Amino acid sequence: MPRIAYVNGRYVPHLSAQVHIEDRGFQFADGIYEVVALIDGKLCDEVGHLDRLERSLREIDIAMPMSRRSLQVVMRQMVSRNRIKNGALYIQVSRGAAARDFKFPAPDVHPTLVMTLRYMSFDIAARKAGAKPVVTVPDIRWKRRDIKSTALLAQVLAKQAGVAKGAAEAWMVDDKGFITEGSSSNAWIIDAKGRLLTRPASGNGILKGVTRSALQALCKAEGIELVERAFTPAEAYKAREAFTSSATALIMPVSSIDGHKIGNGKIGPITDKIYDLYMAYATDPARKQQKWDPR
Ligand code: PDD
Repeated sequence: MPRIAYVNGRYVPHLSAQVHIEDRGFQFADGIYEVVALIDGKLCDEVGHLDRLERSLREIDIAMPMSRRSLQVVMRQMVSRNRIKNGALYIQVSRGAAARDFKFPAPDVHPTLVMTLRYMSFDIAARKAGAKPVVTVPDIRWKRRDIKSTALLAQVLAKQAGVAKGAAEAWMVDDKGFITEGSSSNAWIIDAKGRLLTRPASGNGILKGVTRSALQALCKAEGIELVERAFTPAEAYKAREAFTSSATALIMPVSSIDGHKIGNGKIGPITDKIYDLYMAYATDPARKQQKWDPR
């Protein structure tokens, strides 16, 4: 079965899928993206990801390339044409292809819409057993981190700096010395009192993760105390447990931060419980999907 991609109205073999060299996504990173997990044939938190896609596009004045309903048709087509049940669906919308010029192109330039689907295993037992190291790096990004922009150079450099040190993720630290988030995930710790801490999404300092929003709602319903406040690397070193969250990593337990072992270096009991809650939520077809609240 060849992999199928979607490019501007056509389903094409992934290997030969192309956009124009003057696409503004390529030339200016002038675009928005989303990543949606496909778990057991179900697009996880689809509503939330589409809510955020629409909001990100609106924030940078790109029109939706098609209605939400049509987008969902293409998303389902991607799943059925690729014949996989587990993977990551990537959606990218750029401002379109036009002669290179910083200002917005003429209104008749249509946004470019691309989707790809990549197989991914969601072996939760293996993921739970795979607690991974994290390192901290300076956060050198622009100030609108609430927008899921394809301009990811700072995150690419952060992740690579982490990988070079043997880490799976890099937690970025702002100018005031507080952790913002991971290069492609949100950051969470559990403090000595057993409280869950994550940075507030206010002030555009982080990307408001769709997984993060679902976890917040689940923790609230379960009575797990959650404090939304920024924390420093020094606080994180002393955490009982730590994890990252994202559409594809789901919940990644953290074994160490900058070489400081977290707990016994394995997934902790609260993270384990939150993981179970999330998987029950993500895989229950009858469960109402969490709406993503832009605030
Ligand atoms: N990244 N913060 C950043 C900077 C991210 O890039 C991501 C997701 C998240 C988590 O958001 P969500 O829970 O909605 O996936 C937080 C995706 C997975 C990526 O770039 O591949």
